[in-house]
Amino acid sequence: MTQRTLSIIKPDAVERNLQGRILSMIQEKGLKIVALKMLYLTREQARGFYDVHREKPFFDSLTDYMSSGPIVVSVLEGDGAIDRYREIMGATNPESAGQGTIRKAFALDIEKNSVHGSDAPETAYREISFFFSQMELVG
Ligand code: CDP
Ligand code: MG
Repeated sequence: MTQRTLSIIKPDAVERNLQGRILSMIQEKGLKIVALKMLYLTREQARGFYDVHREKPFFDSLTDYMSSGPIVVSVLEGDGAIDRYREIMGATNPESAGQGTIRKAFALDIEKNSVHGSDAPETAYREISFFFSQMELVG
């Protein structure tokens, strides 16, 4: 089933100029980029985006970090795109991420783990709508 998922290249990766390499890894695996932009989240916007984690001990640190520098957000499309992109990213903790994954290659630690990907159809829909209007989605 064709799906769409939201990808974020996080501040740690943008700061190290890794956008191109990460987008290449995504494209090499056959996912299609149907929307793309670079922006800054305010602290409040980051807190809104990660609202599901509001009660977690890492929430303040995570949302400060996510608003600490520019990010690159994109919408990826393909058959089973949500799970496929989670596989391309690798585990949340880079120490557990598999060989060849983005997080294995680039993540600094469990927080600064270089990329975000939606985890289910409902969250993908919410997250895509958070960043993109219908007009910005191509195809
Ligand atoms: O991003 P992913 O869906 O793999 O993980 P999550 O459990 O939804 O957590 C969201 C983000 O919070 C992670 O990607 C990390 O940046 C951060 N996090 C953290 O700083 N410390 C943890 N113990 C777990 C997550
Ligand atoms: Mg998550």
